[in-house]
Amino acid sequence: MSRLPFMAGNWKMNKTIDEAVDLVRQLKASLSGVTGVEVAVGPPFTALHAVCRELQGSPIGVAAQNLFWEEKGAFTGEVSPAMLKDAGCDYVIVGHSERRQYFGETDETVNRRLKAALVHGLKPIFCVGETLRERDEEKTFAVIQRQLEGGLKDLESKEFISVVLAYEPVWAIGTGKTATPEQAEEVHRFIRERLAKMYSSDVADAIRIQYGGSVTPENVRGLMAQPDIDGALVGGASLKSDSFTKIVRFKEI
Ligand code: 13P
Repeated sequence: MSRLPFMAGNWKMNKTIDEAVDLVRQLKASLSGVTGVEVAVGPPFTALHAVCRELQGSPIGVAAQNLFWEEKGAFTGEVSPAMLKDAGCDYVIVGHSERRQYFGETDETVNRRLKAALVHGLKPIFCVGETLRERDEEKTFAVIQRQLEGGLKDLESKEFISVVLAYEPVWAIGTGKTATPEQAEEVHRFIRERLAKMYSSDVADAIRIQYGGSVTPENVRGLMAQPDIDGALVGGASLKSDSFTKIVRFKEI
């Protein structure tokens, strides 16, 4: 089974509207003609509409960084799936460890967000990953399994097939401490095996699993050489056109 590599940038809480538009203008130019890889950028909410407009007609997709599950109403500070569609988004990141760590995200709320995204035709990038403590206590697989089963509860194959997984070990995020290709592959393989049990081996084979955590132009090739690593969810290195372009063009490095 060949899966199309998928490189996505998670800009987190960075960039004004002007800076965001400037970055995607540069990316449109530097990535023109790239084939055999899917690309998306993840600006903050305030820049989504401007970035989507700038990328109209371009193959670069746009991901929001979160969403709320209700359609509308008295939910101060929240953004609905329909609002993200209206802004022009294709993807939405769900369950990022920073949301779990700082904003009380649980497997149950991740599950509600995933379902709401799918109902509205947004493709979720569903993040899982263990903390350093959990890894040290040899709980990595148990944690990942719990996150998968909780996050994907009651999601059928036909819905799940639009989901992209991202394995992001919390200890590797923003630390410069990337998982080795072997460490990452071990967990990616485990995720695919669990998905085969939860769905089917065909579904598990078709699902893309990105790696995230200190991905750089220097380490991307080694990670992408692993059989179960299908792309990257890139934080810091996606904020500059030069480094993100190199990551997307990893085959040419
Ligand atoms: P860094 O690439 O900055 O480590 O961030 C990874 C990440 O959290 C992407 O979602």
